Amino acid sequence: MRLLLLALFICMASCRNNKKNDAPETAQDMTAMDTDFDLVQAIEDCEDQLKISVPKLTDLTKHPRLIETGETEWKEVPNGRLVWTSGFYPGILWYMYDLTKEEKWKKEAIKRTEVFESFKSITEHHDIGFMMYPAYGMGYELGGMKEYKDILLTSAASLATRFNPKVGTIRSWSNKMHPRWKQHITIIDNMLNLELLYWASDHGGGPVYKDIATKHAETTMKNHFREDGTSWHVIEYDSLTGKVLNRNTKQGFADDSRWSRGQAWGIYGYTMVYRETKDNKFLDFAQKITDKYLELLPEDYIPHWDFDIDTTKDDDRDASAAAVVASGLLELSTYVEKKEDQERYYNAALKMLESLSSPAYSGVGKADAFLLHSTGAKSLGHEIDVALIYADYYYIEALDRLQKMKME
Ligand code: GLY
Repeated sequence: MRLLLLALFICMASCRNNKKNDAPETAQDMTAMDTDFDLVQAIEDCEDQLKISVPKLTDLTKHPRLIETGETEWKEVPNGRLVWTSGFYPGILWYMYDLTKEEKWKKEAIKRTEVFESFKSITEHHDIGFMMYPAYGMGYELGGMKEYKDILLTSAASLATRFNPKVGTIRSWSNKMHPRWKQHITIIDNMLNLELLYWASDHGGGPVYKDIATKHAETTMKNHFREDGTSWHVIEYDSLTGKVLNRNTKQGFADDSRWSRGQAWGIYGYTMVYRETKDNKFLDFAQKITDKYLELLPEDYIPHWDFDIDTTKDDDRDASAAAVVASGLLELSTYVEKKEDQERYYNAALKMLESLSSPAYSGVGKADAFLLHSTGAKSLGHEIDVALIYADYYYIEALDRLQKMKME
């Protein structure tokens, strides 16, 4: 009997291994696939990394932005009104508080959030959503800081001033800072700022913010994507007629190339817009652009910084795009109806997290970040193969989402 059981056990183990070895290389045809991702270890690693970095980050006028290639410590930049990354570090601390419920992380998160309340009046660019929502929004949602409500509502009002009804989108950048374009510029990244607007409508701000966000999502869906579901980065619209004047890039490889983080913002954004509207056209679209992204991925599920670079010459990856998509796909997997789609997106997200937490991408033992090997703006000559604070933010958000899904 014992021998029989042993034989059965060996057979089961080998069947499981065969399934792993036979796993399809693209996510398109992947069904229920095992991964070696260890969530508990990944959370512990993040906490250990924060225990190392937080005591070093004492200047409240600055925030950690990147770790240069080969360096080990965060380079801090001022919490300036024009610096879009200001909110991610407090956001990371809010997520660590949510994951551990340890008061020390909440205390640190409050300290790092409350330094830029005055940014609620930013109207000079669209990044106020990126800046305020991870900090004040997560403080409200995860930290129970209900006193942040008015700051968030004011921030949404500031962002809404940039909506042009003739175009149907929020204007992302000022032309002074981006003189290549003369009229109304909208970039795909702007999709993420919509979350602040939906939040405001859900918290007493009235329907206007939700209407603006949904109109922006519709216009972007129409103009910002190619037939095959890939995205351009920058669109210049005629400010008076709303006509598309140009489709270009700023951070991608070429004007007509497929910048991977742009696609990531789209995936995350349309999943979130579906959550807020429950309109199936956004869910279908989120699936379409996700399926294209998955089809373009290399074997380890971490994209090159642009899908159109010559990978025989340039192997730079963008872990930040992978982290954004992993977080978005976990959410998307909960909305799609078909079981096979649920599994496909969930398993793809796990594969991304498995790669990101592996020695190939993890900062553990090498530098103070959770993740290495991101690309901020290679086409502009900076932030190439570095650690980026927003890669860490979306990574820890994905861990928090996964933990909650496992607890349900
Ligand atoms: N501005 C957001 C990004 O660089 O992706």
